[in-house]
Amino acid sequence: MSQAKRIYASFRSIGAYVPKKILSNADLEKMVDTTDEWIVKRTGIKERHIAADDEFTSDMGVKAAQLAIDRSGVLKEEIDLILCATVTPDYFNMPSTACIISDKLDIHNVQAFDISAACSGFVYLLTIAKAFIESGMKKNVLIIGAEKFSSVVDYTDRSTCILFGDGAGAAMICATENKSEAFIDIHASADGAYADFLVTPAPGAVHPASQKVIDEGLHFVQMKGNETFKLAVKTLTKDVQEILETNHIAAKDIPHFIPHQANYRIIKAVGDALKMREDQVVLTVGKYGNTSAASIPMAINDIYEEGRLKTGDLMLLDTFGGGLTWASALLPFAGKAKD
Ligand code: UT7
Repeated sequence: MSQAKRIYASFRSIGAYVPKKILSNADLEKMVDTTDEWIVKRTGIKERHIAADDEFTSDMGVKAAQLAIDRSGVLKEEIDLILCATVTPDYFNMPSTACIISDKLDIHNVQAFDISAACSGFVYLLTIAKAFIESGMKKNVLIIGAEKFSSVVDYTDRSTCILFGDGAGAAMICATENKSEAFIDIHASADGAYADFLVTPAPGAVHPASQKVIDEGLHFVQMKGNETFKLAVKTLTKDVQEILETNHIAAKDIPHFIPHQANYRIIKAVGDALKMREDQVVLTVGKYGNTSAASIPMAINDIYEEGRLKTGDLMLLDTFGGGLTWASALLPFAGKAKD
């Protein structure tokens, strides 16, 4: 009796979008009590991109998604699930940004929903796409990490406004019978005990819209920066060491280590702990700042566009964010390299 072939999830294509307007450190020097020197030394960030007033999370997501679709060889009619990770949705919280994106892509009658896992959102989406595909429920899953972080940043708060930027990244995750194309492993986890490290307090059931919300700035992102920093270094390092050990892969054999881009010092500390060479570590934080759920797909897109990402190349993703959430993934790039 012939046995049904096992189905795996594979990472077929990548796309990203960065808005035109640049907010430089020099611009921020005119807005808050900071200096280019402090920002570069403490974060590695030189500039970040900011969406136009009439450009929303869904608009950026659509542009990234369209590229990922075009590069995947998958027809729009063949997409059977659309997922968006964002903590800066077009609307809090209905309709989902995934629904708005599917309409703007002219894809109708397809399951679509958002998830909220802050900076870990994109890797969380990989776990969901994998589960849907490997259970046989879906074949072609479009995943999008998109953020208009500038919509929740207080540009009078120097401890947060220097960090965040806007942008989007997307990938097509497809069913395959070819094991060499399959995701190797993913870890995703969370600990709500640290929920108060990164918070956008309003609007929500705790603080519905009110004059008090506006007066106290509760609609802006708040972060315990230093505490988050320390936990990020510890958790990211442990998580990535575990996924490498479980899968018997040495850090030196990873061609592309693509960590969440929050702060150059966090990335350097994790890279050093793993004894990674500079050429292995993908760095985009200097030009995009922290784009939350969009940061990892935007970084993957950068190495794709530079022609550094080849078919079959192993990617190690590692992320950490509000919730607190964290996740890591080990997977080959199963798409066509850029011509
Ligand atoms: O993506 C999700 C995860 N997010 C992260 O992983 C972010 C993690 N945190 C960080 O990246 C860093 O903690 C920050 C960049 C936010 C802050 O760097 P830090 O080295 O942890 O600085 P700090 O908060 O301990 O502040 C040190 C000093 C303080 O002054 P005093 O109290 O020593 O006089 C701050 O007021 O730096 C001051 N400071 C600034 N000075 C100039 C804070 N922000 C600024 C600023 N410019 N923009």
